Amino acid sequence: MSNRYAIILAAGHGTRMNSKLYKVMHQVCGKPMIQHVVDQVNQAHFTKTYVVVGHGADAVQGCIGENANFLLQKEQLGTAHAVLQAEDQLGEQDGTTVVLYGDTPLITHQTIEKLIRFQEDHHAAAAVLTAKLDDPSGYGRIIRNGNGDLAKIVEDKDATDEEKQVKEINTGIYSFDNRKLFSLLGKVNNNNAQSEYYLPDVITLLVQNSEKVIALKTDHFEETLGVNNRLQLAVAEKYMRERINRFHMINGVTLIDPAATYLSAECTIGADTIIYPGTVVSGRTTIGSGCTIGPHTQISNCVIGKETVVNQSVLEDSWVGDRVQIGPFAHIRPLSKIHDQAKIGNFVEVKKSEIGARSKASHLTYLGDAVLGEDVNMGCGTITVNYDGKNKFATHIEDGAFIGCNANLVAPVTIGRGAFVAAGSTITESVNADALAIARSRQTNKENYALKLNYRNNH
Ligand code: UD1
Ligand code: MG
Repeated sequence: MSNRYAIILAAGHGTRMNSKLYKVMHQVCGKPMIQHVVDQVNQAHFTKTYVVVGHGADAVQGCIGENANFLLQKEQLGTAHAVLQAEDQLGEQDGTTVVLYGDTPLITHQTIEKLIRFQEDHHAAAAVLTAKLDDPSGYGRIIRNGNGDLAKIVEDKDATDEEKQVKEINTGIYSFDNRKLFSLLGKVNNNNAQSEYYLPDVITLLVQNSEKVIALKTDHFEETLGVNNRLQLAVAEKYMRERINRFHMINGVTLIDPAATYLSAECTIGADTIIYPGTVVSGRTTIGSGCTIGPHTQISNCVIGKETVVNQSVLEDSWVGDRVQIGPFAHIRPLSKIHDQAKIGNFVEVKKSEIGARSKASHLTYLGDAVLGEDVNMGCGTITVNYDGKNKFATHIEDGAFIGCNANLVAPVTIGRGAFVAAGSTITESVNADALAIARSRQTNKENYALKLNYRNNH
């Protein structure tokens, strides 16, 4: 097999996005567009992959890291000029070069491989991936001659009224004979509506040089959707969501309503998990098998074990074990660890805390900077008082301790193994194992005092 190279263009700012963020850094299903493209390209096994960067170069390089080589295009003079930045590296190489744009996040490695095979099998100088659209506006048009062969590509802004009627568009994904690409790249001029050096003009030049140029028409338009504005970004998001959801359903995950289920491109979910509508799973989240998630649940960057139930809750940057019950209406904040079979119930907030196996905080509790052992029971309304206005302090509650309702545990404090804390106590000193702590004033009942006040007669 000859050498294969990929060049991904990602140097433009993306004016039509009207954004401070560089276009290719906009996310589709939680992953920057450029990363989607690079991930697919890497699956197609190229000898070398180059990403041309310019606007937001640092951000793009930071996002891609070691997964590609970078070339800097200092001034963005057009897509042909962008490819020219690879001349030093590739100009003298034999082989095949695929060029694609960083704003087509739905392209798959299968389609890239198909285009390469199509070009190589036909011994063509270039193969262009095209698509037929009901609304081709904005895209370059594929103009064919009387024989139906590709004659040239005309940009939307340069097209005549007649050319604008053409529904076959340039997807911006090409496979070139590398030497032929670089032999003509320098000859592209910028005499056009945008005064830019257009890469599609190389195709036109190849045709004019009697080289064989062929078009592969894809039936999967969505794969080639170019994102230039927020409307197209929303369309890309929808197609990507459908693709991700389909993948999980085929793998054995039940989505009660796929159209109302939002799973990030980087999550993994075990078989027989059921996800109810309104669930948003973002970042690098892993959910085990047999879980029940949702409805109306947000989970970001978490690891969740198997057979766990999360109902109408928010979980962030945390680890949750097997057969845990969370919610409804719980908030698990970052750096929490909730072990097997624990229960975090209604209106419970957990922050940077570890909850041991089978421990329970069933209602109206705040656990911040706390470490709970196993089989601990937190009564309704209990609070770890972890902040004095300046510093945060830890609370330790050892195995089997029982904290009565509405207790305040003023940190730093330790409640020993098997200890009891009476309801309504404000605990400021540690409690030894197996002790009972009561920290509230004793109740006094004054017999018949109510009658003396004559309260009822006055009302
Ligand atoms: C381009 C094609 C058009 C095609 C469409 C498909 C050209 C001239 N036109 O139009 O035929 O139908 O894509 O989506 O190629 N870029 C650089 N450096 C530059 C200019 C652009 O790296 O100097 C990058 C951009 O970051 C972007 C990509 O190239 O990722 C394409 O540029 P864009 O401005 O989006 O081109 P389109 O107008 O969409
Ligand atoms: Mg574009």
